[in-house]
Amino acid sequence: MPLKIIRQDITKLECDAIVNAANSSLLGGGGVDGAIHRAAGPKLLEECRGLGGCQTGDAKITYGYNLPAKYVIHTVGPVYAGGNRGERELLISCYKKSLDLALSHGCESVAFPLISSGVYGYPKPEAFRVAVDTCLEFLKENEMLIYIVVFDKHGYNIGKKNFADLDEFIDQNYVSEQEEIFKSSKNAFDLPRFSKAKKIAGMVAGAVPCDEAICESIEMPDFELDESFTEMVLRKIDEKGMTDPECYKRANIDRKLFSKIRSDIHYRPSKMTAMALGLSLELPMNEFEELLQKAGFALSKSDMTDVIIDYAIRHKIYDIFAINEALFSKDLATF
Ligand code: APR
Repeated sequence: MPLKIIRQDITKLECDAIVNAANSSLLGGGGVDGAIHRAAGPKLLEECRGLGGCQTGDAKITYGYNLPAKYVIHTVGPVYAGGNRGERELLISCYKKSLDLALSHGCESVAFPLISSGVYGYPKPEAFRVAVDTCLEFLKENEMLIYIVVFDKHGYNIGKKNFADLDEFIDQNYVSEQEEIFKSSKNAFDLPRFSKAKKIAGMVAGAVPCDEAICESIEMPDFELDESFTEMVLRKIDEKGMTDPECYKRANIDRKLFSKIRSDIHYRPSKMTAMALGLSLELPMNEFEELLQKAGFALSKSDMTDVIIDYAIRHKIYDIFAINEALFSKDLATF
């Protein structure tokens, strides 16, 4: 998960560096700046006094003192004056300079507030887009865990990109857990795509008659020879002519996790990891479900995350960051 959009007080975050939306004096202020100085204690201001200020679009680094973060990167965003005064370029520069500083100080994780989106008046939806797009650009070339902290969720239009009629889709497709249990116990195990292992599981759960499950298990003893989750992922990467980094970056999973999956043909991923890889590989619904099944999961209509994934695949939306925004907008865990 190299890029995470979260809602939290940035001063409480445990990561290597947090970024401060400062002013050019670097001597403190209101908003997130005030919160960071309060939480870090007076030594932060002492160190800031020695920095000689900072230009708009630039960044400087100090220690974090009483903060859980080791460093604070202070950057000065542009004051928004209509959009024709180079504000966008300056805002992009804030993120880039801050990320370069984080990298040169060996940080593996860094958290940004939405620079300029408060007192400095940058329109919130655009401020959010600049943050996400600039960080994603950086992640194409670098390994880091970047948090984008959205303190006040409203006004940013998060999750609206490509998901215009999501609410309607949810109304039509989301069913309560009770309804789902009823439906799946009646029908799900009758579907031919469910494997014998599932039928036996169904028998244990009482949804498939014992004799049917047992008979089939005797007739078809070779089901363990199915292609595994890892094997299917690697096959699909080859078929699509992708490289490994392309695959794990698009899935928003880190290199170490991907290496684990690659090196263990019996790897059992979490459902989110399995779905992330299915999206990264742009699998159509039948193959996406097949991949999930290999990991021991299925899409459920009583799970809001699953309904959103269903929407995304039906609409051929495979951009995990757009999907993350939709999940975030519904207060759901993101990829
Ligand atoms: N954690 C995360 N985000 C926060 C927090 C917090 N504790 N407090 C505020 N924010 C969010 C705001 O909701 C806003 O979206 O940080 C974003 C940036 O808002 P500001 O702090 O007002 O920063 P900015 O718009 O860049 O203005 C900078 O404000 O206080 C001064 O010294 C600062 O003069 C500078 C100006």
